Amino acid sequence: MPQRMLIVAAAALAVLLGCATAVEAPTPTAVARQPSALGFYSLEQAARGRRKFRQVCSECHFVSEFRGPDFESEWQRQTVWDLFRQVVRTMPEDNPGSLTQQTYAAVIAYILQLNEYASGDAELVPSQEAMDAIPLGPGTASVAMAG
Ligand code: HEC
Repeated sequence: MPQRMLIVAAAALAVLLGCATAVEAPTPTAVARQPSALGFYSLEQAARGRRKFRQVCSECHFVSEFRGPDFESEWQRQTVWDLFRQVVRTMPEDNPGSLTQQTYAAVIAYILQLNEYASGDAELVPSQEAMDAIPLGPGTASVAMAG
């Protein structure tokens, strides 16, 4: 009887230790990942978007149309997905949808950079789920960073 209790106790301890390791183990990894998790696009991606913008969009647009208070108030209460979707559907005006999803995402990354959204290790992914999580509008660059 005592021996059986000992085995039960040992098993319980093993479970406890197992739990303790499982809880502690991910912490250093999570900390190491934080810098990229805080960014919305990579600098390399934004640079690609900038080149494409100059090549394609600058034919009809000034960069200044996509930053600052006017841009922010125009897109307030909308998300990066709304902007992405509208650009994919309607731009460039003379040939809508002519760029790849990746290239459109790079151009949007450049627009986020213009609006002082944080960069990180990970690229902006052209998916509704990822882009709907990023708000546009006044002050959202810093709000989005904190979240
Ligand atoms: C051939 C000319 C042309 C090209 C090239 C072009 N656009 Fe446009 N774009 C327009 C016109 C015209 C409008 C409508 C302007 C308006 O009335 O708001 C517009 C509107 C937009 C809008 C909506 C503006 C707003 O404030 O609602 C966005 C965003 C936009 N363009 C992004 C882009 C991007 C990004 C590119 C490059 C991939 C691009 N455009 C290339 C002509 C062009």
